[in-house]
Amino acid sequence: MDFWGWYDRQLLEAKQYDVPIYELDWLILRLTSLDKLDLRLRSLNLSQKITIETFTNLDRLWQKRLSDRIPVQYLAGAVTWRDLELQVSTAVLIPRPETELIIDIVADFVNQSSHDEIYQYGIWADLGTGSGAIAIALAKHFPQAQIHAVDYSEAALAIAKINANNNNQQVHFHQGSWFEALSNQNLENQISGIVSNPPYIPSTEVLNLQPEVTNHEPHLALDGGDDGLAAIRELINTAPQYLISGGYWIVELMAGQAEIVRSLLQANGKYTNIQIHNDYAGIARFVSGQKV
Ligand SMILES: C[S@@+](CC[C@H](N)C(=O)[O-])C[C@H]1O[C@@H](n2cnc3c(N)ncnc32)[C@H](O)[C@@H]1O
Repeated sequence: MDFWGWYDRQLLEAKQYDVPIYELDWLILRLTSLDKLDLRLRSLNLSQKITIETFTNLDRLWQKRLSDRIPVQYLAGAVTWRDLELQVSTAVLIPRPETELIIDIVADFVNQSSHDEIYQYGIWADLGTGSGAIAIALAKHFPQAQIHAVDYSEAALAIAKINANNNNQQVHFHQGSWFEALSNQNLENQISGIVSNPPYIPSTEVLNLQPEVTNHEPHLALDGGDDGLAAIRELINTAPQYLISGGYWIVELMAGQAEIVRSLLQANGKYTNIQIHNDYAGIARFVSGQKV
């Protein structure tokens, strides 16, 4: 097996297909026991680290990446997100690095609160949980809290449950549309924090994203209706019914939506301490508030 000859050919192919070459390394590191040093030094003694079967599988998946534009994360079936190992399939959105920040923003808010126990020991809800990433991270960060997670997609919830289990976190999962899924849980005026990365892309744009996203990620996870804000409006309007006074509300959104969402929260009249937060690139990507 001429692994490095194959590797060099694939780097060229990746360029031709306009696929980032780091994705080849990512897939190799995921599927084999090669490490970054092996890749950097082009280690020659690979027989212990990569069998013919693994190599054949790697090549098969990589060819699918190039020809079918399937994201490497779906091909590998797993991602690392924060300190969590999460299974992913095409039933769930691939959790994005920028979404990791929502947990840090929540954690900072709670740390700075003079009533942090309300949140540390309170009830939290992750609406539109997908792979379960946010709910599981919240459960890990607030071990004394009770965490609920909602998704409309049964298939997504099945993956989220596996992920909670694999990461040894307890999360209460509910199937249904946004707050309807919680309506029989006696949670009105009980929730300390609502966190959501809802679908926020305008319907017409969903078909024009990169093929990896448009053709492979679930449109239920992407499509936010005509202006992208349908789910966020629902979350703004109904959350006050479920939050305690002072309860925290935060959503992720796309570039250009933050000021509109701030106005919607202000116009609602039931929110205070409304704040916009930037992502790593300095783009306004999250808006938070508290129930008055
Ligand atoms: C952008 S994805 C976020 C997934 C995950 N929270 C993350 O950050 O990676 C949005 C999620 O909302 C779910 N969703 C869409 N419409 C919904 C609805 N009406 N009620 C509940 N969940 C919904 C989708 O199935 C999807 O899992």
